[in-house]
Amino acid sequence: MSIPTSDLDDADDQNEAPALADYRRGDFLPGDQVQLTDPKGRMHTIVLEPGQVFHTAKGQIAHDDILGGPEGVVVTSSNSTAYLAQRPLLRDFVLSMPRGATVIYPKDAAVLVGLGDVFPGAKVVEAGVGSGALACSLLRAVGSEGSVHSFELREEFAEVAKANVERFFGQPHPAWTLSIGNLGLELNDRNVDRVFLDMLAPWECLEAVSKALRPGGVLCVYVATTTQLSRTMETIRTMGGWTEPEALETLLRNWHVEGLAVRPSHRMNGHTGFIITTRKLAPGQELPPKRTRPAKGAYGDDWTPYPMTIRPLDPERQEESQTDSQ
Ligand SMILES: C[S@@+](CC[C@H](N)C(=O)[O-])C[C@H]1O[C@@H](n2cnc3c(N)ncnc32)[C@H](O)[C@@H]1O
Repeated sequence: MSIPTSDLDDADDQNEAPALADYRRGDFLPGDQVQLTDPKGRMHTIVLEPGQVFHTAKGQIAHDDILGGPEGVVVTSSNSTAYLAQRPLLRDFVLSMPRGATVIYPKDAAVLVGLGDVFPGAKVVEAGVGSGALACSLLRAVGSEGSVHSFELREEFAEVAKANVERFFGQPHPAWTLSIGNLGLELNDRNVDRVFLDMLAPWECLEAVSKALRPGGVLCVYVATTTQLSRTMETIRTMGGWTEPEALETLLRNWHVEGLAVRPSHRMNGHTGFIITTRKLAPGQELPPKRTRPAKGAYGDDWTPYPMTIRPLDPERQEESQTDSQ
């Protein structure tokens, strides 16, 4: 089942729809999202409406004081606290938007778009859409000429994702299709350039993804645990038809830079997830045999190969396991 994500199918709507970029620039207009940052760096996001008032612990701010002003304007609340008004960047939006499932953090989304080599006009498939965080990054990268087909098992998460994506872009994105269902069972797209999987059991979708990706196409898988990492990598190797998969994680450390106090931040996110990348070979091709031997003991007596039953699970069972663990 697909849920409509675009009203731009008919010609009249297409003529009326403002360009996606118009929501990202220019003076503030009614309906614009504004991020208000207080002197301590705390952020609030509001949607501008003439005549409305935003109430904070530090007094009230009239929307009319922001409307018509340029981005980056400083407004003052009724008790004289200054707030900086800007449109939220994607990275701020993702961290503050309503969530159904756990989101891919901006640091990982940026690397996924880069490693996945997503280009303007690309044909992309992703699952699960979760809260729509990665979908926003993918849609930005493919632009209006490309396509992103997102799959989500759970209808309630798909609704959250749809609302988030439309809120971020200010309208339904013309390149987006959102389908509810199990990607492993329902992916019928072909000649896809890039596929992104962020789900509990990505190995169950590899057969379907392998049929969908064009030769040379890139698969990026995002997983949270080492057991998922190992099983996904080994399944890719056992299946064949893929390049040798690579795995990495991103560690982002902010720095405190103030006068003579120049040092790494005390806090950082120690772990978010692992990224696996591989590329589809041409039909019938096999990877040339490896010149390097596996690490000692890697596939020794204690190694138990993962079962190659990568048929997708029954959707109901999979839904239960998602609920348990995410
Ligand atoms: C961690 S969340 C995805 C978060 C998303 N990437 C984001 O950035 O907001 C995982 C999602 O995958 C969905 N899911 C799990 N297996 C799936 C499958 N086989 N097909 C489609 N969706 C699936 C789950 O319902 C869940 O919403």
